[in-house]
Amino acid sequence: LLEHRQVLNNVGAQTGAPTRLDISRNSFPSDFIFGVASSAYQIEGGALEGGKGPCTWDTETSKPGRILDGSTANVACDSYHKYQADVDLIHNIGYDAYRFSIAWSRIYPEGVGERPNQEGLDYYNRLIDSLLKSGIKPFITLCHFDLPQALVDKFGGWHGSEIVPAFAAYAETCFKSFGDRVRHWITINEPTIDLAFNAGVSAAMEANEVTRYKAGHNMILAHAHAAKIYREKYQGSSDGVIGISLDIQWFEPLTDSPEDIEASETALAFRGGWFLDPFFRGEYPAAIRKTWGYSLPSFTPEESRIVKGSADFLGVNYYTAYYVTSKPCDGFSNEPAFPVTMPSSVYVGDTKNGVLIGAQTPTGLRACPDGLARLLLFLKSKYGNPLIYITENGYSEKRNPEMTLEESLQDGERTEFFRSHIRSLLEAHKNGVNVRGYFAWTLMDNFEWLWGYGFLFGICYVDFQNNQKRYLKESALWFKKFLQK
Ligand code: NOJ
Repeated sequence: LLEHRQVLNNVGAQTGAPTRLDISRNSFPSDFIFGVASSAYQIEGGALEGGKGPCTWDTETSKPGRILDGSTANVACDSYHKYQADVDLIHNIGYDAYRFSIAWSRIYPEGVGERPNQEGLDYYNRLIDSLLKSGIKPFITLCHFDLPQALVDKFGGWHGSEIVPAFAAYAETCFKSFGDRVRHWITINEPTIDLAFNAGVSAAMEANEVTRYKAGHNMILAHAHAAKIYREKYQGSSDGVIGISLDIQWFEPLTDSPEDIEASETALAFRGGWFLDPFFRGEYPAAIRKTWGYSLPSFTPEESRIVKGSADFLGVNYYTAYYVTSKPCDGFSNEPAFPVTMPSSVYVGDTKNGVLIGAQTPTGLRACPDGLARLLLFLKSKYGNPLIYITENGYSEKRNPEMTLEESLQDGERTEFFRSHIRSLLEAHKNGVNVRGYFAWTLMDNFEWLWGYGFLFGICYVDFQNNQKRYLKESALWFKKFLQK
């Protein structure tokens, strides 16, 4: 508690009124990386082409009523065929890097196997080569929610310990096939959200907290084993790095009472610490252990040894901030706060003295740029100033079918969202946070999981009626200006 209070004091002292001056990439060091992100299932389409096996989300989208607008991602943005158009967009806007993911079931249709699927490898080779030709650095995510369905059928996916060697073998195939050209690897995207979606998991394992923590444990071990292989056999003397992307939001204590500070510490432990503490401190956070006791898995000394320190960098996916308090009060709840269930001493809300924590956005998340700097300073103090990339940050609106193309390209609020968050990032950077890159979510409007195509995060518009033609929105044009050297 004392430690957390000190961290908060530090954070408070360092983030002040945001700088009003306009910013550009030149406000950052010249090797700071600005990029844009996507994921395989959300954009590729080609669901069963090129020898790809079904993944959990192919299963989900085939269930009636599961996806809000009844859509699938069988075609999505058709990047499986139009990847060159994506590379051209990224190049045109002027980004240094592109974070995309590999569809595991394109490489191993059954999740595991003697030999990888050559057509799948060819697709990513074409994409990587095209990026490099345009001077864009590839950042690869190995698993972004789309587990091969076969592994769920065989042993429950992340819920079975067999997933650990399966993931390590798949990761090794990727290191071997692409590692000569790729220097940045992200093993798993947002484990907490992945487990909350629980896509493809059979009724017998339907999410409950205990099975979820067990599955999370397997994810941690899967990351650690893949990282071990990378370091021993592929990292060599290259400057390659391997990390993981976590969904971590900021939890601001509602008051400075010791109880609220403890509630903030606990909320951060459940939302981020669940994965952060094993990687950076070697054990689960005490707050989680206190709540789940013996039903929380333990690391054997050998596991602890390979887990601790196994992330060269931390990928932070930041979208929003919340207030937290320890006692029930109006507008606050400790009902399962998606995606994790908070303990009974933590109430989460968004309003203090009638004022929202950030600007309301159309899909309900509050835009809270200051929370980014506070979160980064917190991570610096608590976890020994790890190397950080912001692997996602973005703004969503709701699809409005009445809007003309021209109106759809006017996304002034999104532009302001990026401007204010990058300003906050600069603040954190100036205060010594070891952050070396920032990725906007996302390159173009795409399949937003349970919400289908109803929630749009793209900086480019996709005309899904007309051959998936892409158009730059105002926010993309803002980035283009921002990125000029
Ligand atoms: C988190 C996920 O990584 C990404 O797939 C999703 O589209 C965005 N955030 C927005 O919800």
